[in-house]
Amino acid sequence: MADFSKLADPGSPEELLVRRIDRDRLPRHVAIIMDGNGRWAKARSMPRVEGHRAGVAAVRDTVEASAQLGLQVLTLYAFSVENWKRPRFEVWTLMNLLKEYVRKERRALADNDIRFNVLGRWRELDPSVVREIEQTLDETSHCKGMHFNIALNYSGRCEIVDACRRIVADWAAGKRADIDEETLGRYLYTSGQPDPDLLIRTSGELRVSNFLLWQIAYAEIWVTQTLWPDFRRRDLIEAVLAFQSRERRYGGVLQPDSEGVQLFASGQAPR
Ligand code: FPP
Repeated sequence: MADFSKLADPGSPEELLVRRIDRDRLPRHVAIIMDGNGRWAKARSMPRVEGHRAGVAAVRDTVEASAQLGLQVLTLYAFSVENWKRPRFEVWTLMNLLKEYVRKERRALADNDIRFNVLGRWRELDPSVVREIEQTLDETSHCKGMHFNIALNYSGRCEIVDACRRIVADWAAGKRADIDEETLGRYLYTSGQPDPDLLIRTSGELRVSNFLLWQIAYAEIWVTQTLWPDFRRRDLIEAVLAFQSRERRYGGVLQPDSEGVQLFASGQAPR
């Protein structure tokens, strides 16, 4: 059971929000499209990269708060396959920020029992980035708490293509499995993890941007106007509360049974 006592200071506005959280209906997996760094910087007449730099503090607070909330999985979208189209200096800065982040945070992640994981074609990145990632994967591999995924050099379509390629390679090697949803899920980068229940996007944009296309089939979507560098645990808690106010039906209908308990028409209790 999560210990919410560390999530907010006593008497703070966040604490009032935390009290409203239903511990039994937490999303298992929250995925976030971090957006608005460029606009945050522009509003301050700063270069775009300063928005990314300021975004690291938001990453830190979100990871810490997610673990304190007791989420099973947090996924942050840090760099897409399409982001290579950005100016060279911006890409270079983003790679350096990532490298620095994983190097500086690996100890804190391990101390908090957070297991680090990377989604995407990250082995194609600069060897200096790959080295830092590998060390962080290694140092947190024993952790049993929250799984923290960073999507890096990631594309949802590429992920599905990669899964198909690996299924075909296994078939060719004689390791054959039925081709169904369960099998495909096992070959995705998120193998073994629950699908996101809640997808958050910052900065008001209404797009999924090639993110976790397979896994978000039934995710609840929450969009905030807050720009990523300003995102803090308060925003995360608001998103969780909004999630808990939604009725999830997975294409079914809710009907009261003879004891007044809400059941799906199929007879399954809703999650
Ligand atoms: C989108 O904002 C943000 C990104 C493409 C990068 C996100 C990266 C960070 C928050 C920093 C480092 C990350 C980690 C995990 C340490 P945008 O630039 O598209 O914003 P705009 O739409 O306002 O231009």
